Amino acid sequence: METVILNNGVTMPLIGYGTYQIPAHMTEQCVADAICVGYRSIDTAQCYGNEREVGLACRKSGVSRSELFITTKLWACHGFSDTLRSIDSSLRRLNMDYIDLLLIHEPTGDVHEIYRAMECAYREGKLRAIGISNFLEERYLDLINHCEVIPAVNQVETHVFRQQKKLRGLEYQRDTQHESWSPLACGRNGVWKNQTLLEIAGQHGRSVSQIALRFLTQQGIIVIPKSTNTQHMKENLTASEFDLTPEEMQVIEQLEVGRSLFGWW
Ligand SMILES: NC(=O)c1ccc[n+]([C@@H]2O[C@H](COP(=O)([O-])OP(=O)(O)OC[C@H]3O[C@@H](n4cnc5c(N)ncnc54)[C@H](OP(=O)(O)O)[C@@H]3O)[C@@H](O)[C@H]2O)c1
Repeated sequence: METVILNNGVTMPLIGYGTYQIPAHMTEQCVADAICVGYRSIDTAQCYGNEREVGLACRKSGVSRSELFITTKLWACHGFSDTLRSIDSSLRRLNMDYIDLLLIHEPTGDVHEIYRAMECAYREGKLRAIGISNFLEERYLDLINHCEVIPAVNQVETHVFRQQKKLRGLEYQRDTQHESWSPLACGRNGVWKNQTLLEIAGQHGRSVSQIALRFLTQQGIIVIPKSTNTQHMKENLTASEFDLTPEEMQVIEQLEVGRSLFGWW
């Protein structure tokens, strides 16, 4: 499995499994399926309401904790002490001794204090890496100017229609790894019927989802596609087994629409 090395030396899989909008009662089975087909990185969040089920599936999988990479995200924390408590409550729900990657879910509230508490928990060994999510250019640079530990990861809406080139350039200079959320655009903007992607998929004997994911991973972007279908899970996990040509990469670059498909950030 392809991996990337984060700025503190921690290794993270290039392709992981997303769990947003998987209801809690389905999460344990879906995560078990994902681990069974070969995923080792699982992305959850406090606000998804499924950390407990992610933890259960991991424990029952028989895969050792050190082989798994678990990401979760803080939601609605108020300052330093509240963040420390929130981190402990995630650890309790996951029933784990440590979290591999903890992110601030979105740039709201006193992010400097929230991040300071994360730095503290990181130094205590409760977190192997810390980072942020949905921090676009201005908020990213602001945090960089106030933190002691450079965020290892910034997880942001990134797919063929919104490629985040400028933000990725800034992150690259400061050694923050870019991670894509909704790498398949969550099916929006006609992605499955997109003519450009269909043609390239035909040339490689691959699916549209594999082309869309490969476009990102070939640029070193971490992806966490979500699926409740084991065939789709397998397809997505093997999306790095081929290469797109420089010409194909250039053609896909033209699909950029210059705006969010979700309008959250
Ligand atoms: N930090 C944030 O603010 C944030 C925001 C959004 C998402 N995320 C994270 O990013 C993860 C992925 O994003 P997402 O769940 O929004 O969307 P996504 O992964 O871009 O797309 C998921 C959709 O694509 C379908 N799909 C997946 N693989 C497929 C395939 N091979 N062929 C056809 N359809 C396929 C899924 O349906 P099936 O289930 O039927 O396969 C589902 O409807 C989330 O689960 C979450 O962990 C983070």
